[in-house]
Amino acid sequence: MRVAVIPGDGIGKEVIGEAVRVLGRVADVFGRTVAIEQIPWGADYYLQTGVTVPANGFAMLRDEFDAVLVGALGDPRVPDHRHARDILLGMRFELDLYVNYRPVVLFESRLCPLKDRTPADIDMAIFRENTEGVYVGVGGRVKPGTEDEIAIQEEVNTWKGVHRIVRYAFEWAASHGRTRVCMSDKSNAMAQGHALWQRVFRDVALEFSGVQASHQYIDALVLQMVRDPAQFDVIVTNNLFGDIITDLGAALQGGLGIAASANVHPGRTSMFEPVHGSAPPLAGKNVANPMGAILSAGLMLAHVGMRDEAGAIDRAVRRVIAEGVGTPDIGGTQGTIEVGTAIVNAIATHM
Ligand code: NAD
Ligand code: IPM
Ligand code: MN
Repeated sequence: MRVAVIPGDGIGKEVIGEAVRVLGRVADVFGRTVAIEQIPWGADYYLQTGVTVPANGFAMLRDEFDAVLVGALGDPRVPDHRHARDILLGMRFELDLYVNYRPVVLFESRLCPLKDRTPADIDMAIFRENTEGVYVGVGGRVKPGTEDEIAIQEEVNTWKGVHRIVRYAFEWAASHGRTRVCMSDKSNAMAQGHALWQRVFRDVALEFSGVQASHQYIDALVLQMVRDPAQFDVIVTNNLFGDIITDLGAALQGGLGIAASANVHPGRTSMFEPVHGSAPPLAGKNVANPMGAILSAGLMLAHVGMRDEAGAIDRAVRRVIAEGVGTPDIGGTQGTIEVGTAIVNAIATHM
């Protein structure tokens, strides 16, 4: 397979370096060819060239690669985040990656900040709508910088957009033996846009009689995620709420350092990235946890049909955690590279 790798900014470069080493090892052990092409898009490239994404950049990703693996975008030298929006949101929108799948899985009880929780309590999938909502950039500012400033940022919800993510969540539940799908919105306050979510959710739920459909307002949902995370199998929600609750989900599983994500359009070139950002204070210190990036590479292999290879990555990360090896964010004493090496060495066709 051909993979476009965009390390990006800050710790993105470090964690992706480890993910690429793990991919190389998986390819060797399973006798696969994984061709990696490094793409330099990020803050350095933007500051040097003035270009965020070159002309035809997204078409190149779509036409020449099977998948894209990304580190993180965000750099204090670009305070308006222009390059991050162009590159990251650009990929999500231009490649129409409407599913943002973020699994929340607790590997070991000690990693959970909640007391008395075990892996049996925290094992859910969050599906975040990834192409609409407040992320579309519809709006504007009148008299910016004055006391008369008016700033408008619209939320866009379309039937097609809501329907396809809600349907995907139900289909995923049904095909993964999960029996509960919870939709979360703010339809009590956002009576126009989120009424659409209510209608679509009700209609799609009727098609899946084996799946129990429920609804929680987003404010109550965050409470329940902390109070009783075991009640959740699958959560589906809009772009902004999904962004926020997946950082909470990351916390439940041990922190942003180990949370993985897949930005998917079924059947098309899709993009995989850790949930975390570029963490500028950690950059260049060999302390960032590479597990989120490595597990995202695993999601990428699963997406292209390499299920055994993906399973090997999952098992290797679990084994390394069980051995107490890790970066400081999960209570370990090793560095980014040392954790990467431990995972590389733990890759095996079976256990
Ligand atoms: P962040 O995810 O970079 O960091 C949040 C916290 O988590 C920090 O305390 C950080 O030290 C910790 N953390 C994150 N990743 C870690 C890892 N791998 N190992 C150990 N600790 C880790 O979020 P932020 O500070 O809000 O944002 C920093 C920059 O990253 C901003 O420019 C933001 O816009 C950008 N960002 C990019 C992405 C992305 O590219 N997908 C995602 C989130 C944030
Ligand atoms: C994420 C990030 C991005 C988002 C930012 C960097 C625009 O927080 O992938 O979770 O909000 O989607
Ligand atoms: Mn986020």
